[in-house]
Amino acid sequence: MVLGPMSGYTSRSYRDFMKLFGVGLSVTEMTSAVGILNSGSRTDEYLEFGRNYPTALQLFGHSAEDISKAARISVDRNGNVDLIDVNMGCPVHKIQRSGAGCVLMKDPPLCGDIVRKTKRSTGLPVTAKIRLGSDRNHMNFMDVIRELESAEVDAITIHARTKDQGYSGYPDYEALSDIQESVSVPMIVSGNIYTLDDAISALSRTKAAGVMVARGGVGDPFLVTQINEYFRTGKRLESPTVSQQIEWCKQLSDMLIEEKGSDAGIRKLRSIAPKFVSGCHRCREYRLRLATETVSRESLFAILDEIDGKMGDERINCDGRPHHHFTE
Ligand SMILES: Cc1cc2nc3c(=O)[nH]c(=O)nc-3n(C[C@H](O)[C@H](O)[C@H](O)COP(=O)(O)O)c2cc1C
Repeated sequence: MVLGPMSGYTSRSYRDFMKLFGVGLSVTEMTSAVGILNSGSRTDEYLEFGRNYPTALQLFGHSAEDISKAARISVDRNGNVDLIDVNMGCPVHKIQRSGAGCVLMKDPPLCGDIVRKTKRSTGLPVTAKIRLGSDRNHMNFMDVIRELESAEVDAITIHARTKDQGYSGYPDYEALSDIQESVSVPMIVSGNIYTLDDAISALSRTKAAGVMVARGGVGDPFLVTQINEYFRTGKRLESPTVSQQIEWCKQLSDMLIEEKGSDAGIRKLRSIAPKFVSGCHRCREYRLRLATETVSRESLFAILDEIDGKMGDERINCDGRPHHHFTE
């Protein structure tokens, strides 16, 4: 189980929190290679983390030189970086304009070159995160995978969408049927993993070595535990109660506020806190209040306590969460 990198979400406190639920490998938010090269001796906040658990530093950039150098600098600044993950899938326009993210996939040999040079400069394992390709008619992931393999990449995450799909629409797991059987390194699959059944379905279709939880884990950290437990023992764990969700939400809130400071932490929590009760049918009005009336830790905790008092015993129901089905 790999915790998917999400810009604006997966900062140190969020990763620390999710680790408590059994995440195997955590990945930082994507970090600019050029930014690291230009930052002098200043340590980027993305680089501030300890050695508590395996963490990948994700870098984005447009050239093998920049990325491999930035990786070396990062590892010198923080010896706790366990591996470097290279972003080859980001579709955001600003990133594309700089020639980074998904643009790299247009040039498969460059993808290989980046991995080769970064492995050489750091001596660490290097992984890559890619997509299917640019659009339905240009799904060149296999060309990219072959180049990555020949550069001795250590693992590949594939987000089962094209660049043009952005983050919506169905991931195409059909295109990745049995992919692990034809790839020599561990594959991790990503895209719409919101429930245990989504993970089971993605893994059985692709035979991948691992699955990545991204948006599905925001407000539903126990999903990670459910996935791990199922693949270790075959057992399906019952979904948590609203009361448990509230407790976890408070725990994450304190961790986030400690990391980001009160103002930035509270701003972030306005979008995260409602998700902790998104699986509760009767919480609709409370979701709105959490999003609009959260102005301080006190106001947030007061609303959470009110929810707990009214429906703490209810179980979170998957039907209340965004529900996605794979194209079968
Ligand atoms: C808000 C947001 C930020 C993201 N930031 C990154 C990022 O920094 N690096 C990256 O490789 N992927 C990033 N992703 C992609 C996710 O890691 C994941 O592959 C994608 O969301 C598909 O999984 P999901 O449908 O289960 O959320 C981001 C996704 C979202 C929604």
